[in-house]
Amino acid sequence: MFKFTAKALACALSLTIAGLAQAADPIVIKFSHVVAENTPKGQGALMFKQLAEERLGDKVRVEVYPNSSLFGDGKEMEALLLGDVQMIAPSLAKFEQYTKQLQVFDLPFLFDDMAAVDRFQQSAEGQKLLTSMESKNITGLGYWHNGLKQLSANKPLREPKDARGLKFRVQASAVLEEQFKAVRANPRKMSFAEVYQGLQTGVVNGAENPYSNIYSQKMHEVQKYITESNHGLLDYMLITNTQFWDGLPADVRGELEKIVAEVTVEVNKQADALNQGDKQRILDAGTTEIIQLTAEQRGQWRDAMKPVWSKFEAEIGADLIKAAQAANQ
Ligand code: LMR
Repeated sequence: MFKFTAKALACALSLTIAGLAQAADPIVIKFSHVVAENTPKGQGALMFKQLAEERLGDKVRVEVYPNSSLFGDGKEMEALLLGDVQMIAPSLAKFEQYTKQLQVFDLPFLFDDMAAVDRFQQSAEGQKLLTSMESKNITGLGYWHNGLKQLSANKPLREPKDARGLKFRVQASAVLEEQFKAVRANPRKMSFAEVYQGLQTGVVNGAENPYSNIYSQKMHEVQKYITESNHGLLDYMLITNTQFWDGLPADVRGELEKIVAEVTVEVNKQADALNQGDKQRILDAGTTEIIQLTAEQRGQWRDAMKPVWSKFEAEIGADLIKAAQAANQ
């Protein structure tokens, strides 16, 4: 009898302990990305982790996986949909399988500067895009800036004809492919993790990136020239799995939403300074000449690339392109 009672007691006790442990298990948010930590997105992910763990204590644990260390391009979206990660922030160029509307952000020479990008992202049309993929289980939580892209190559690119015949790495975006075809160059889709090696081995001759991505991936070591073209945008949409997000306890979700809003403001405030700092670090490294275009030369690039807009107008929607253009003021 005694034996039985002791056994039952031990069993009940272990069940209780297991139950308690379960109740105390934190919600794990895996945040995977493809860039280095010293970039706008890398910093944003770390800021999110710090604030979430500070303010939600034992309820939430955020694991950040930078540099394609968990999932690279092409796999991270699938991982989000399968629930293998809970947050990612792909570049706006990487959504075309899920919506054609976001292609608006890839149109060359659309935005005059980052202030215009900001105005469009915060406009009613820009905000609507955040929820446009919910039927596909993707919820947009905000836009994070990186910045405007610069062209790089091993020969100086001053006029569009200088790019003729060169192979340029592009993200997985039909708009970006067309952009390089417009100057009679050869676009090659390639995942971000492969770009440095691609440039080093000559699989591609050039690329387009903001300074922060060039510097943090050491691309300047394998590119003799950067043309400060500011011809297009590389920004991100911070996204989560809709089912996961909607299934969070309301208090946790509410706090995370506040944190996301704060981090978004901070990332967008700091991105430009980070890019300018990296431009200076590239100059200091002495590996790469940075070419400034004259107004006339920049006009030539714009004229050569702008016909791409009309090719995608039907898919993106003429009204959305107009709304984006209006943000230039
Ligand atoms: C790229 O593939 O060039 C970028 O999308 C990488 C990034 O996330 O900034």
